Amino acid sequence: MAERIRVGFVGAGGIAAAQARALLKLDDVELVAACDIKEDAARAFADKFEAPHTFTDYHEMLALDGLDAVTVCTPNSAHKGPTIAALQAGKHVMVEKPMAMNAEEAQAMVDAAEASDGDLVMGFQWRLGPQVQTVKRFVDAGELGNVLYARVQALRRRGIPHWGVFGRKELQGGGPLIDIGVHLIEAAHFLMGEPKPTSASAQTFTYMGNKPPTAVGPWEAWDWETYNVEDLAVGFVRFDGGAVMVVESSFAAHIEGDKFGIQIMGDKGGITALPPMLFKDEAGTQVNVQPGYVGKWDSISRKMAEWIGYIRGENETQCPAESGLVVQKILDGLYRSADEGREVQIA
Ligand SMILES: NC(=O)c1ccc[n+]([C@@H]2O[C@H](COP(=O)([O-])OP(=O)(O)OC[C@H]3O[C@@H](n4cnc5c(N)ncnc54)[C@H](O)[C@@H]3O)[C@@H](O)[C@H]2O)c1
Repeated sequence: MAERIRVGFVGAGGIAAAQARALLKLDDVELVAACDIKEDAARAFADKFEAPHTFTDYHEMLALDGLDAVTVCTPNSAHKGPTIAALQAGKHVMVEKPMAMNAEEAQAMVDAAEASDGDLVMGFQWRLGPQVQTVKRFVDAGELGNVLYARVQALRRRGIPHWGVFGRKELQGGGPLIDIGVHLIEAAHFLMGEPKPTSASAQTFTYMGNKPPTAVGPWEAWDWETYNVEDLAVGFVRFDGGAVMVVESSFAAHIEGDKFGIQIMGDKGGITALPPMLFKDEAGTQVNVQPGYVGKWDSISRKMAEWIGYIRGENETQCPAESGLVVQKILDGLYRSADEGREVQIA
């Protein structure tokens, strides 16, 4: 029988529910507690997922007997505190994306993991999805040669969140770049072989989110009075070894429609991840290789299963805390560059 793992949640909102549904599909995993600063949210979550304990203070949850693992599902400004406290209590911890508000916080979390009996993984799931895992096999087989350039797009035409605090810089650290761009950046960086970022240049623009909607859209109206993040971010990142990445991310942009994509070009071949394709020259011919089988699984289920397997020592993690830190350095560099209006170095 597998080792029983007892999990507690900090933050009982949207992603916590998705994680809970995934965890409940696994054998010998128990959801024992939900902690949320909103008591109602903790109670509703606990009722829905049959968790016996609720808390409004995560320190109290961490004192619960038999708690093995903690997943941090709070807004970005509340990632660092519970993550470090849970590590210091010796727990296995997963923290949602992005790792933190900035690289300084993320570094403190990595340091806390190193100093503790617990361990920390990132809640990245795009790299675990069937498309990215498929093209990763092309990359690992050397089909691209030297990786030169990644192009990342996380563009919504009109998708400003109307729930949560996604429009508030002081609670999230930024807008679409840190919220949805991060997914594509983590997956593309994983496909590139996780090179060290050395500099970044970016521009951010706010022109829609801080005003009432000017057109009917698919989502309800957002809170434009508190909105102080970018609508659109465009950036350029340099890496050790000479590869570069271009990033475009928006909550709202005047484009034909939403566009989520990863394209990577090497000196021998190239890929797209969405859909998974390989482009190369073979037998004197330019060919497009479409995988005959990609696989179908839900990437959040895969991330929770991989985490539980990692806790039990059954598998490695593809989402170590260090990957969260390096992605955070990319995000930080881009935001810093946009603030300062020049290219900035990434340490
Ligand atoms: N991996 C993914 O696909 C994915 C999807 C959505 C959100 N996220 C990430 O998950 C996090 C939460 O997003 P969400 O969509 O679930 O937000 P949400 O607003 O639905 O839920 C957040 C919950 O955290 C609670 N909370 C706030 N501060 C807290 C604190 N200090 N202690 C305990 N609870 C606190 C709020 O009351 C709320 O119930 C964010 O970091 C977001 O970037 C990841």
